[in-house]
Amino acid sequence: MDSSDITIRPAEKVDVKALQEIGRTTFTEAFGAVNSPENLQKYLDSKFSPEALAEEVANPDSMFFFAEHDGQVIGYLKINFGDAQTESMPEHTMEIERIYVLAKYYGKGVAKLLFDKAMSLARETNSVTVWLGVWEENPRAIKFYEKNGFVEFDKHSFILGEDVQTDILMKLTLA
Ligand SMILES: CC(C)(COP(=O)(O)OP(=O)(O)OC[C@H]1O[C@@H](n2cnc3c(N)ncnc32)[C@H](O)[C@@H]1OP(=O)(O)O)[C@@H](O)C(=O)NCCC(=O)NCCS
Repeated sequence: MDSSDITIRPAEKVDVKALQEIGRTTFTEAFGAVNSPENLQKYLDSKFSPEALAEEVANPDSMFFFAEHDGQVIGYLKINFGDAQTESMPEHTMEIERIYVLAKYYGKGVAKLLFDKAMSLARETNSVTVWLGVWEENPRAIKFYEKNGFVEFDKHSFILGEDVQTDILMKLTLA
């Protein structure tokens, strides 16, 4: 597969079902084995219900994008501005809340295409800082963001079901 075979397009209201499917599948692939089935289920049910996703898609301060290959959704991106960000931030910041790719496409440049899309939107919206939270036990993602210029600046708690986990907050300041 060549990354020129991948298209990135906005995900909208009509895409909620597909978003639910890619969201649940990629989250389970990434974190299913290292969390209890009960906590995982709770998280999936609350965060990836059609109602919750429809609300997020409708939020004018959030944007979703799909990566597609041969008409199939193989990854997605969610970015937030303003009050949609998961932490309160100063003006002119953008959050990358989710970059998730199907496991069989890890290491093939799909995540980089989604990341590049996020960064071009950051520039278009005159964002000064791009930030994100990543689980401290997710070395692959941490390495991916470091490779792309992010540095740690803080930590916060992340609740998965009933498990309180620590996310590392990373940021990149745009020139
Ligand atoms: C995080 C993610 C988007 C990165 O995409 P990717 O295509 O796998 O990224 P890359 O292969 O370019 O980069 C990952 C880096 O981690 C390294 N890596 C691979 N497996 C690793 C592992 N088990 N532990 C540590 N590092 C690992 C790779 O070697 C690569 O670094 P390198 O280019 O210097 O060799 C993707 O893995 C993913 O969707 N993961 C599941 C969801 C997730 O964790 N999203 C982020 C939540 S904030």
